[in-house]
Amino acid sequence: MNSSPELDAVVSFIIAIDFGTAYSGYAFNITSSDKESDHHLKRWGKEQRLETPKTPTCILFNEDGKFMLFGYEAKAAYIKMREEEAKKHLFFENFKMALYAKGFKGSKDMKIKAANGKEMTALKVFTETLGYLKSDALKTVTETTGRKLQASNFTWVLTVPAIWDHSAKQFMREAAAQAGIVTEGDKNKLVIALEPEAASIWCKKLPADCFITQNLSENALDQSAGTKYIVVDCGGGTIDMTVHEVLRGGALKELHKASGNDLGGQTVDRKFKEFLREIFCDGVWDEYERNYPSEVQEMMYDFTFLKQLDEDVEIYCSFNLGMLAQKKQNIEKFFESVEGASWDEGAIKISRNKLRSFFAESLKISEEIGEIIKKDFSIDYVLLVGGFANSLVLRQHSIDQFSKRCKVLCPVSPQEAIVRGAVEFGRNPEVVVSRKSRFTYGVAVCEPFDESKYKPEKKITADGKDWCQDVFGRLLDEGQDVYCKETTEHVVCLVNENQKLMEIRFYRTERKDPKYVDDWGVEEVGSVKVDLPDITGGREREVRVEILFGSTEITATATDVVSGSEGSVSFNFLTEAETS
Ligand SMILES: Nc1ncnc2c1ncn2[C@@H]1O[C@H](COP(=O)(O)OP(=O)(O)OP(=O)(O)O)[C@@H](O)[C@H]1O
Ligand SMILES: *[C@@H]1O[C@H](CO)[C@@H](O)[C@H](O)[C@H]1NC(C)=O
Ligand SMILES: *[C@@H]1O[C@H](CO)[C@@H](O)[C@H](O)[C@H]1NC(C)=O
Ligand SMILES: *[C@@H]1O[C@H](CO)[C@@H](O)[C@H](O)[C@H]1NC(C)=O
Ligand SMILES: [Mg+2]
Repeated sequence: MNSSPELDAVVSFIIAIDFGTAYSGYAFNITSSDKESDHHLKRWGKEQRLETPKTPTCILFNEDGKFMLFGYEAKAAYIKMREEEAKKHLFFENFKMALYAKGFKGSKDMKIKAANGKEMTALKVFTETLGYLKSDALKTVTETTGRKLQASNFTWVLTVPAIWDHSAKQFMREAAAQAGIVTEGDKNKLVIALEPEAASIWCKKLPADCFITQNLSENALDQSAGTKYIVVDCGGGTIDMTVHEVLRGGALKELHKASGNDLGGQTVDRKFKEFLREIFCDGVWDEYERNYPSEVQEMMYDFTFLKQLDEDVEIYCSFNLGMLAQKKQNIEKFFESVEGASWDEGAIKISRNKLRSFFAESLKISEEIGEIIKKDFSIDYVLLVGGFANSLVLRQHSIDQFSKRCKVLCPVSPQEAIVRGAVEFGRNPEVVVSRKSRFTYGVAVCEPFDESKYKPEKKITADGKDWCQDVFGRLLDEGQDVYCKETTEHVVCLVNENQKLMEIRFYRTERKDPKYVDDWGVEEVGSVKVDLPDITGGREREVRVEILFGSTEITATATDVVSGSEGSVSFNFLTEAETS
């Protein structure tokens, strides 16, 4: 290495990975105190004569489950395979959505299905994906800077949807650890960033000429204190959003807890496919999908470009699809009963209205945005980011819906905003000074029994005193502001004089004020054990519970006040399947 040690001491290396449902990518910024700062975003698809900020989130394994290829290359290789080859290999796409599925509790054993129906554990698929992105990023760093650096030289940032549950975030951490991104002792070198938050950080820095002007009323974000805006990350899988206020000094405060849904860009693709199936009826489309999967992939790829438009469009109909159709009847006949579609000498013509109709499902997001705007935070802007924000239909709809109340903005490269902002976030996570808690959190406590307040079946007696057990001791309310690095404290008393060990169980709920920890809607999220070696204080001893909610994740410590003994801190959201 040719740089001096003094220089290295102040070097700060960051790599951010945006692991998306549809596309993934990374960016890094290597800055040293006296060199020009270098911020780099990898461009993908050179071999496909493309230059995109992300590559498809597709991964290919051989029949022994060994990783082969990722991204455009994986897609191209899978498309080229003959049927018997494709039957052996495992090809995965859109798998990030598995972590958003209802009931996902972070199980390490959960399996997901490849395109051919074969299965692999989700943890392996995620680990191999992160492993690939990690090595490719380190390779790119060497290529662009000439420096050979290792994973341990960097702070890594991993983006996740803000609406993800803690268990899903924890799962990503586990996969990152298995991929060798961070090691056991170095866990704090992995930062989890929330996608819309990262985009917000990026957009806030952008000068006026970095926003799209077409049709949009305003072309710059007022960056001064007091500005309030919603950032809507329109991705392939999820659309999620966050509401920020700019504070004096430029820090950000979250005004409304993260919200969103799973109606991202892929719902439009799905509608387009349904439409093709409707045109090529009588099983023609199904036969085409079965026999020519690679052509279908290509067609879907072409559609990505049509998705940007808001006009009548045409998509090429391949020779094979035409042949299959002609075998049944004259191809023009297929178009007679379908509205919005016509045959135009080898191409399928789709009317503007039909194209717009594919968006109907995803445009429901505007109701959710509208609800927030109505809450009267006096929001100044709606900022659209993510690849799906490239769609004119989506942008125009947002203008129609919101331009009366606030300004609608979209950066010129909306898909890059997330990963670029994530780099900034990695450098300074405290730029978001406070967030809204999405849940009410609490611990199970015992309270002196009061007949007028508590159910008789909750009564226990210890050392001659009556207690009510399972009382929900509130630590934090849903919707409450939580400041970065702020800890909330709670004192838990002992029930037994000679108690030498205490287990503190943590719970959460979307309800405001539950009474017991086993009420409906309350779930356990983890527990901490503390040793209480010194029993001389008897029941007067106290255990202090400290919770750090402020970052994008939760950590808890329980301390025996007398001995100073501390409980292990980690919340275990990762649950093994019952059978293992
Ligand atoms: N140029 C474009 N025009 C229109 N749509 C596009 C364009 N580029 C990408 N998209 C669409 O945007 C979506 C992908 O955006 P993005 O990369 O932000 O999502 P993601 O990060 O993979 O998904 P998520 O954030 O939900 O995990 C896809 O539905 C894709 O079809
Ligand atoms: C890289 O990070 C430094 C430090 O935050 C920042 O000043 C610089 O603008 C970044 N580079 C780019 C190109 O954004
Ligand atoms: C990178 O990490 C290695 C080992 O972890 C260390 O020896 C080396 O000094 C680091 N390099 C820089 C530039 O920090
Ligand atoms: C946006 O521009 C299109 C043409 O580019 C036009 O038809 C449409 O009416 C415009 N919408 C608004 C709200 O200005
Ligand atoms: Mg995304």
